[in-house]
Amino acid sequence: MYLGLDLGTSGLRAILTDDTGAVQAEAEAAFSPAHPHPGWSEQNPADWIAACETTVSAIRAKAPDAFAHLKGIGLSGHMHGATLLDADDAVLRPCILWNDTRSLDEAATLDAAPGMREITGNIVFPGFTAPKLMWVRNHEPQVFDKVAKVLLPKDYLRLWLTGEHISDMSDSAGTAWLDVGRRDWSEAALEHGGMRRDQMPDLVEGAAPGGMLRAALLSEWGLSEPVVVAGGAGDNAAAACGIGALGEGTGFVSLGTSGVLMAGRDRYAPDPASAVHSFCHAVPDRWYQMGVILAATDSLNWLSRTLGESPADLSSALPEKAEGPSNVTFLPYLSGERTPHNDSRIRGAFIGLDVGTGRAELTRAVMEGVAFALRDSLTALEGTGARFDTLFAVGGGARSRFWLTTLANSLNLPLSLPAGSELGAAMGAARLAICAHTGAAPGEVMTPPATAALIEPDATLTAAYDAAYDRYRALYPALKQSRRPASGA
Ligand code: XUL
Repeated sequence: MYLGLDLGTSGLRAILTDDTGAVQAEAEAAFSPAHPHPGWSEQNPADWIAACETTVSAIRAKAPDAFAHLKGIGLSGHMHGATLLDADDAVLRPCILWNDTRSLDEAATLDAAPGMREITGNIVFPGFTAPKLMWVRNHEPQVFDKVAKVLLPKDYLRLWLTGEHISDMSDSAGTAWLDVGRRDWSEAALEHGGMRRDQMPDLVEGAAPGGMLRAALLSEWGLSEPVVVAGGAGDNAAAACGIGALGEGTGFVSLGTSGVLMAGRDRYAPDPASAVHSFCHAVPDRWYQMGVILAATDSLNWLSRTLGESPADLSSALPEKAEGPSNVTFLPYLSGERTPHNDSRIRGAFIGLDVGTGRAELTRAVMEGVAFALRDSLTALEGTGARFDTLFAVGGGARSRFWLTTLANSLNLPLSLPAGSELGAAMGAARLAICAHTGAAPGEVMTPPATAALIEPDATLTAAYDAAYDRYRALYPALKQSRRPASGA
């Protein structure tokens, strides 16, 4: 039996699978980020541990016999978060998350440092880990001076599970301290960021062993055999493992809090100028590339809060199928944007409102704006040579057929809805645990799921969506004129 733990931005999901990946039990525990200042996003690492204890207890209660045969644990987590520990592994301050934009100036400084883009294969975005540490050095020097280790969120969970400081390549690639081509910490990148190698965890591949469950937890959880903890993965690489997106031609589009268009790559082909992310995959000798938009379902959640209606109610007011683009255009830059603009100061907009515009039209425009933002990512990815033979659609937003058909029309690509996709990154984590325990080849374990439905673009609407996308594209330069002053991030 294997446990897949996915530490998300809004909660932790745990699944227990057998060695074929068949789910025996699942459980979830919610927590949420705090936003103490505009642009800040933080979490208390103690909440992650509490959620892990809650979900493991729930799984033990649901499937006690299966749990007693636990052999491996796989970890997935939201990327880039900076969990700062002192020499006794005590947490020094709340974890600064991936969607926190306070380190805008530090990111720009680091991005301009010689060789950074070449070494890391990426623009240094404010969301990445290294600029967060520079911000702490500049604004909380008393904390910075005590930093003995920096761990990514899922690796803090591992520390609690195993007592060890270990990370994997896919998650570490999002720190801006890793040489992504060589899959090792870069002395030069660390130095530019004011950090040392001894402050970094040891590195393993995601499908390899990365620690053993502590004796105290073994006995607390009633286990008698040793349990290996796999290297694990950042959530996007884990989700890719969950749906078998390992190599060229495979990928997914995810409508989660953030939106992601991900392409598996057999080779390392970075293109930082396009604001595409190029990261190590969770399996050896593979990489992946992705465009990231910061507000996908977050845009719909914002609309839902503003209108006082749940996202499900807003969605259900729309037809099953998108029959053409909206007259209202929405730019989803509610938290700034990564791909393709790399612009933390840009903010969103509705254009084309009239006195008759109501809730349904606003909802439709929000979904379409997110779809067009993902088309920007598609263009950027295609520029690096990525292609999609199969593009899976995953994430909470994929529950809306209207959103899916809008997306298929906007990207002009068929979207495959995988069976069981709601398990996503947790399934990928469980699969990494299977590999770490059995030594099986990742390609044999990480196979694509069955397609539950195929959403084809409507060829009669391609020209209309192309024209609407062109209108959308033209608005960013105009919006840029009115973006926030540098200090107001
Ligand atoms: C990826 C990113 C997000 C988080 C969200 O670069 O920042 O997708 O991993 O969970």
